[in-house]
Amino acid sequence: MKKDLISKKYQEKIKSFSYFNKRYYNDNVSEITDSEYDNLKKTILDLEKKYSFLNSKDSPAKIVGYKPSKNFKKASHRVPMLSLANAFSESDLLNFEKKILNFLSHNLDSDIYYSAEPKIDGISASLLYKDGKLTQGLSRGDGKEGEDITTNLSTIKDIPKFIQSKDFPKEIDIRGEVFIKNSDFNNLKEKFANPRNAASGSLRQKNPLDTKKIPLKFIAYTFGFEKGLKINNQFDYLKKLSEWGFKTNPLNKLITGIKNLLKNYDEVEKNRANLDFDIDGIVYKINDFALQKRLGYVGNAPRWAIAHKFSSDKAISKILDIDIQIGRTGALTPVAKIKPINIGGVLVSNATLHNEDEINRKDIRIGDTVTIERAGDVIPHILSVDVKKRLKNIPKFIFPNKCPSCGSKTIKEFNSITKKKDAVRRCSSEGYFCEKISIEKLKHFVSKDAFNIDGFGKKIVENFWSLGLIKYPQDIFRLDYKKIEKLEGWGNLSVKNLKYSIDDKKKISFERFIFSLGIRHIGLENAKLLSKYFGSFSKFKNLSKNKKYAELLNVDGIGETQVNSLKTFFSNKMNIGVLNELEKILIISNAAIEKKDGLLKNKTFLVTGKLNGISRAEVKSLIEENSGTTVSTVSKKLNFLIVGDKPTKRKVENANELEIKIIDQNQFLKMLNKTS
Ligand code: IVH
Repeated sequence: MKKDLISKKYQEKIKSFSYFNKRYYNDNVSEITDSEYDNLKKTILDLEKKYSFLNSKDSPAKIVGYKPSKNFKKASHRVPMLSLANAFSESDLLNFEKKILNFLSHNLDSDIYYSAEPKIDGISASLLYKDGKLTQGLSRGDGKEGEDITTNLSTIKDIPKFIQSKDFPKEIDIRGEVFIKNSDFNNLKEKFANPRNAASGSLRQKNPLDTKKIPLKFIAYTFGFEKGLKINNQFDYLKKLSEWGFKTNPLNKLITGIKNLLKNYDEVEKNRANLDFDIDGIVYKINDFALQKRLGYVGNAPRWAIAHKFSSDKAISKILDIDIQIGRTGALTPVAKIKPINIGGVLVSNATLHNEDEINRKDIRIGDTVTIERAGDVIPHILSVDVKKRLKNIPKFIFPNKCPSCGSKTIKEFNSITKKKDAVRRCSSEGYFCEKISIEKLKHFVSKDAFNIDGFGKKIVENFWSLGLIKYPQDIFRLDYKKIEKLEGWGNLSVKNLKYSIDDKKKISFERFIFSLGIRHIGLENAKLLSKYFGSFSKFKNLSKNKKYAELLNVDGIGETQVNSLKTFFSNKMNIGVLNELEKILIISNAAIEKKDGLLKNKTFLVTGKLNGISRAEVKSLIEENSGTTVSTVSKKLNFLIVGDKPTKRKVENANELEIKIIDQNQFLKMLNKTS
């Protein structure tokens, strides 16, 4: 890579890093997970290591946190609050010890003692005591200056306000972590993404009375400035802290040898789900203060300590229960309810078990200790079961042979292509007999690519269903608005808006209509094929009478699976009833006859960002109806980039570079002689 390209990449990373720091430290918002943050930090540090010309004042090597927020008065730390380097593997630890021994010119086989302290994932704070009295409490801020949050910190019960012990230093900054217990977080789940955000948010409330309402805890582990401390090692310091009335971590240990550090790490990691607080690793500190002093600091982290982080995409926890979810097509999906565990900054409490076969293959049972993986945006899943940890007499999990929602038989279909039974078990009911299936069908009916009813989300479907306001799709168009207006959270205006959105969607294209019915195996593409084939709704509905299913096999793209599914759909009376009712309410336009010489002939389009009042699927069909083509990437082949709200920056930049015409929604509609 060329020097200027490397610089550019580096500056971009620094910019994001500063941005996320500002959001986190000033606005209390984590826009990325901890592991994403750690990765970003690592990329920057790696780049700096590789290319010595890279150097920024905002580098993670130079800054600890972010400038304190303006909401609170600032105050300097008498001794800076630093951060820790991270270790992820055995070799990182061996390296850490080797460097220390080299620095101290010790023999490579000398025994070094470490204080191994579980790293609580909370917010660090520094408490200044003068003559045994708590006089000031600061947040970390940027490490040099913190926010004066004395009053808020004073509301925490674990923080002693007066200490009378004779050996308590005349002056000392006691440092530690403010956090919230997982069990207390349960009540705050709605408001915050994870316990750390909850602690940070509560601690920085403008009104200390708001802080007091939240059960914050404090664990002490180090000190900053001191005058009169008569202790010479970390482990004795921790003991003293508890004598003085501070809480310390009961899992702190004094350990020598990397092997033993690793053993302790494994044990703690296995036990993590049983702790009532979040930890994201273990901090190792050289026990002897004299050695700590000799070792000193590199950059903004001590040479004498390191944080051994837990894997950012795996964790061990326990299965509390197995829930069976029912999808729109009747598929029964088992979901493991697990003891909540933080994986890479996200509190995970559900893991998919995929299907019955997967449960049998891995012999997963309720009560099992399991390793869960959460990688990228993939739904967390179970990697393995620790059978040794299984208690005696725990029965095998029996997959229900009756639908948990409607009691119908559950079946595994025979797949004529693979000549095997499906892995998925389904509820055998049809139409709108099964409650759970019906709810899912309604969610699909109002969804973006179907009726796209603004403001009619999944929660509303569930809510209206439970109130008996909707059961079948047609009920959506005959809502009792008077009743809704009286519901909590609804008012005159919101009801008016809802009515407007629903009425607005009474006119619908034929292909979208077919798609919205949620017939198994009939997705957007197949709905399009069927709409072209039948041309109109009445011909489609006629299928139930003329039963010309076999002819459908002539449609390129439609196969036996789809035909069988249509047969099942049309043989159900409830479905026919729904079609009849919808026909009375809706205006279903006939399939557009494709114009070969349409207005957009030989033109290619790509949409980025959110459009207003028109979905991407609709734009796509408008383009195709008018002989245009849609493409999926910005390249020289692209003629028009349609840009909506919050577009992908890259796409816009690339389009600019390639001098591709960038247009908005209105300009696009104008090309079709339409206005929005
Ligand atoms: S010692 C120079 N000990 O980890 C030493 N920190 O990245 C600095 N933390 O800001 C801190 N448990 O928020 C230390 N037992 C422990 C800790 C701990 C959690 C946090 C703390 C600090 C961060 C370091």
